[in-house]
Amino acid sequence: MVTFKFIHHACFMLEHENNAIIFDPYLDGNPMGVKAEDIHVSHVLVTHNHGDHLGSAYEIAKNNNAVFISTAEVAGAAAVAGCKTHSMHLGGTHAFPFGKVRVTPAFHGSGIAGGHACGFIVNYYGVTVYFAGDTCVFSDMALLAKLEHIDYAVLPIGDNFTMGPQDAKVAVELLGVKKIIPVHYNTWPLIAQDPEKFKTEVEADGQTKVFVVDPGDSLELL
Ligand code: NI
Ligand code: MN
Repeated sequence: MVTFKFIHHACFMLEHENNAIIFDPYLDGNPMGVKAEDIHVSHVLVTHNHGDHLGSAYEIAKNNNAVFISTAEVAGAAAVAGCKTHSMHLGGTHAFPFGKVRVTPAFHGSGIAGGHACGFIVNYYGVTVYFAGDTCVFSDMALLAKLEHIDYAVLPIGDNFTMGPQDAKVAVELLGVKKIIPVHYNTWPLIAQDPEKFKTEVEADGQTKVFVVDPGDSLELL
C-alpha cells in the first residue's frame, strides 16, 4: 500500500512499508509543527530552489543521508551544501530503488542561475504520481500522459504564482488523469482558494475524482 501524506503547501511524502520519500519539504508554518528532525526518508525530491519548495531539504537530506534528487543546477547547489545528490534533467528518467522518476518541464523560475524548474512523474512501488511543481498549465501536459500512465496528478491551484483553479481544470483535461490532488493553496491569503469548489467543478465530468487532503492528513493511493 502506498500512502500520500500531506504536510502542507506543496510538501508531501509518499510512504510504503519501511520506505518514505519527501517532495519540496517546506515545513515553515505547517499546522502540525513537523520539524526537519521528524522526517525520515530515503530520498528528497525538489522541483526548484524557491524557499517554499527547497525549504528544509538540505537538513532532511543530511540527517537521513538521503539522496537529494533534482535538476542539475538545483542538485549542484545541494551538493555544495554537503548533500548526497542525484542530478537529472528535463525528459530524463532513472530507476531508483523505490521506482522510476521522470523529470518533467514546469514553466516557472528555478530560483538558481541557469536552472530550470521541474515537476516529477514518480512510479512509487507501482503507483504513478505526477507532481507538477510550480507551473502554469501547458499543452504538453497531454504529452506527459502519453509518456507515462499516470494514476494521480498533484496540481497547484493557488493562482498568482502558479495556475489557479480554472486553469488547473484545463490541466486535468489535458492530462486525462482521473485522480487529482490539489496543492499550493491557502498557505497564505494571496493563494487562498476553495478546493471544494474546484472538486465540484472537476467532478462534474462524472469520471474524475478530486481528493482534497488537509494538511497533516493522509490518503491511501490505490
Ligand atoms: Ni516557486
Ligand atoms: Mn511555490
